[in-house]
Amino acid sequence: MLMAEAPPREVTNGLKNADNLNPTDDDLLAVALGAPARRVLMRAEEIGPQTGWKDGYLSSTYGFLPPDPSDSPVALRSSPGRIWSDLCERMPGVVARGNVRNSILALPLVHGTPDVIPDRALWAATVCLGILASVYRYEERNDGNEGVAVSAPPGAFRNLSGEADDEEEETKGIPRNIAIPLRQVCTRMGRPLPHLTQFDVSIYNYKLRDPTSVQPYQVRAENMDLRWPVFNDRGEAMFLLCMAEVHGCFQSGVETVTRCQEAVMNRNPDALLREMIQLKTIIDQLPYVFHKISVNPNAGEQFANPVEVCIPQHFCRALLTKKQWGQRYAKFSAPLSKRVPALSGLALPLFLLMDAFLGRKKYTSFLGIEAVHLRRWLPMNIRAFIAAIENHYSIPEFVKGSGNPQLEGVLEGLIESYAGERGFMGTHRCRSKSVQYFSET
Ligand code: HEM
Repeated sequence: MLMAEAPPREVTNGLKNADNLNPTDDDLLAVALGAPARRVLMRAEEIGPQTGWKDGYLSSTYGFLPPDPSDSPVALRSSPGRIWSDLCERMPGVVARGNVRNSILALPLVHGTPDVIPDRALWAATVCLGILASVYRYEERNDGNEGVAVSAPPGAFRNLSGEADDEEEETKGIPRNIAIPLRQVCTRMGRPLPHLTQFDVSIYNYKLRDPTSVQPYQVRAENMDLRWPVFNDRGEAMFLLCMAEVHGCFQSGVETVTRCQEAVMNRNPDALLREMIQLKTIIDQLPYVFHKISVNPNAGEQFANPVEVCIPQHFCRALLTKKQWGQRYAKFSAPLSKRVPALSGLALPLFLLMDAFLGRKKYTSFLGIEAVHLRRWLPMNIRAFIAAIENHYSIPEFVKGSGNPQLEGVLEGLIESYAGERGFMGTHRCRSKSVQYFSET
């Protein structure tokens, strides 16, 4: 890019000042530093393994998924925080017996500080403690219906100095033996307030059945189980595993998106065309994942009972009928407070990245406002990666400015494939409406 060929005589002939034959500072800096998305990716890959990926899983090979989904849970199991994951392992049975609060109150206080919980175990600790806090609230609020009355021992809600009412709203009413480590672990993860997210319970909460089974790709619903299910019904599993699977299908997408940005930076339309076609091939596969959530009782493991299937609670309250409010997962996934993210598919990195990649500018709708809010709470690496794509070397602008019909055609195809009626988003709408319909009939 700096000087592909010597300038031709027609250009240099008679030039009194040849300064402009040299590249601009911006171009020089681009060559020296590389594309912003590449820099974010390289930094994430460099420090991730040493820091337990606490800034968020992000790599060229595994995309937004952990390189090994068992690594952090194994590290937690080897630490005193094992008491949290042990309880989460037993959770479906504990919930079924209405014994959640008793079991949580019986846990000893283990701190979430680095001397007790190593960095490698941080993700697993965050997921487990977030589940424990949410499920405690769930049973408390549904007492007499899906739980039994429990009276907490005196002092269960007092902090280390014996005070009871110093808590923020997120941890109010949650016993201190969970609230204290949850707060400590969330702080270490860069979360200003403790909360449980949609990516915690889906893309960081699966285990592989057969790690050698890689066709068509390894991280697919048929090859996974939820590591820490709360209710252990197939509705919960299919909903969360499909969220993980779209990121499994998209694993190479992070590298492809980065290469698209590099192609724009280098003003190389041929490379951009190649990478955009590659990206479209990936996005074209995503709608099939939604079809795995089946309302047909004969669909075996893919059957997601519509009465149980989990509609994100904060979404479309108006859409939900009374019967749907009976859904256990919707109740469980209530956010710890109104100011922290609710559990919603919109918080998943893939969607927020694709919006940025396609140059979405308007975020004024109900879901648009929600998307901006959720993006703010993403792990640092993922936020930085999305910001790098959104703010530098805009791909749609380059395509429009190029006047290249091939590039324009592929961009249109990509938008259709992601947001179109028969694309990823259209299929989601159709699928979720059918689940809603069947849950009412
Ligand atoms: C059968 C299970 C599901 C149901 C019933 C459901 C339901 C909903 C509902 C009611 C909304 C609100 C917006 C709308 O009406 O379109 C929504 C939005 C959304 N859901 Fe789902 N969903 C399901 C599965 C999933 C899965 C598996 C994913 C991810 C792989 C996902 C990702 C999203 C995203 C990204 C949005 C925001 C859409 C936008 O910005 O337009 N959903 N979902």
